[in-house]
Amino acid sequence: MSQELHDSEEQFRLIVEAAPNGMLLVDERGLIVMVNGSALKQFGYEREELLGQSVEVLIPGSSRSDHRQHHAGFMQAPQARSMGGRRELFGLRKDGSEFAVEIGLTPIQTARGMGVVASIVDISERKRLEIQLRQAERLAELGTLASGMAHEIGTPMNVILGRAEYLLQRTADEGMKKGLATIVAQVERITKVMNQLLSFARRRTPERRAVDVGAIVEESLEMFQERIAQSRITVDKTIAASLPPVLADRDQLIQVLINLVMNSLHAMPEGGTLRLSLARENDYVCLKVADTGHGMTEETRLKVFDPFFTTKEFGKGTGLGLTVVKGIIEEHGGTIGLESAVEQGTTFTIRLPFGEAGAAGSPSSTGN
Ligand SMILES: Nc1ncnc2c1ncn2[C@@H]1O[C@H](COP(=O)(O)OP(=O)(O)O)[C@@H](O)[C@H]1O
Ligand SMILES: [Mg+2]
Repeated sequence: MSQELHDSEEQFRLIVEAAPNGMLLVDERGLIVMVNGSALKQFGYEREELLGQSVEVLIPGSSRSDHRQHHAGFMQAPQARSMGGRRELFGLRKDGSEFAVEIGLTPIQTARGMGVVASIVDISERKRLEIQLRQAERLAELGTLASGMAHEIGTPMNVILGRAEYLLQRTADEGMKKGLATIVAQVERITKVMNQLLSFARRRTPERRAVDVGAIVEESLEMFQERIAQSRITVDKTIAASLPPVLADRDQLIQVLINLVMNSLHAMPEGGTLRLSLARENDYVCLKVADTGHGMTEETRLKVFDPFFTTKEFGKGTGLGLTVVKGIIEEHGGTIGLESAVEQGTTFTIRLPFGEAGAAGSPSSTGN
């Protein structure tokens, strides 16, 4: 090889190595002849592991046969183009995970024959932002819709409620009274759902006061008394005595508990145990809501906080409950986590800082 050719090859190698995109040179047989550092990082391999391997190790199983056809076609009529057309492409990492990619192909004549240079861009971050944006748009739409509905539905609902209550006072007929009481109760239910939607759509600024979280747990549980009594669910409550107060919005914390308890009850249609515990952990109050329900798969677990994610049938779930819960907890400077196992159950753990409210009213925790 002439010195000149050698120099230019060396230069080419350096440029490719420094490229921010992943780059591969694949020969006619589909074997990897060259790979740059960015590609190694993208796919999680060491160079020796890829050189001489079929490029198919980087392609998810489901797309391999497609790739084989395209590779053959490309080699017959080589010209620069982007790969995949309108299809979404994915790369396969060494650890088995996949990531969204965009790939440009350029034919190249090498000393050993025809080859193709693939330039690979990891677009998973872009995809994630696109999804986030779409969700934000949906939430904004929901906000507009909810405000409109609250007005359009709220006004007639108030009229219905007013009339029903008026008639309720005037009638002595027991049957009539029962019917009217049902109307009142159902209208109140609709109003409650509307308010929940509204509070989600336009999060009002929280009003923080020193609150007794233990009392809030008790109170929230009260609301489920009837439901729990009718089911085969046992409640097991452990609330530490004399916990300092937490600076928090009472209504929001109730909303958190309602959502968690509701989910647990849904997860135990055949009965089980609902465990609520509240304890102190240094500067935090730690609330656990645990159930012995159907649990979640790993896939579900990763998505439960996403807005609109639900595994419940249409009309049963909104997929907003845990989104709201997480929002509220984080606004309070707290954290939420969960553990779950299919057929075993689920435990949500929330930690809220006592903050100033706790510091003012709590005994010093040092030295004991
Ligand atoms: N305690 C639980 N046990 C099992 N799965 C749960 C539990 N809590 C939440 N999930 C899962 O998380 C999903 C999202 O919950 P959530 O945001 O409250 O929305 P929704 O209850 O309206 O479906 C549920 O559809 C369910 O699949
Ligand atoms: Mg829910």
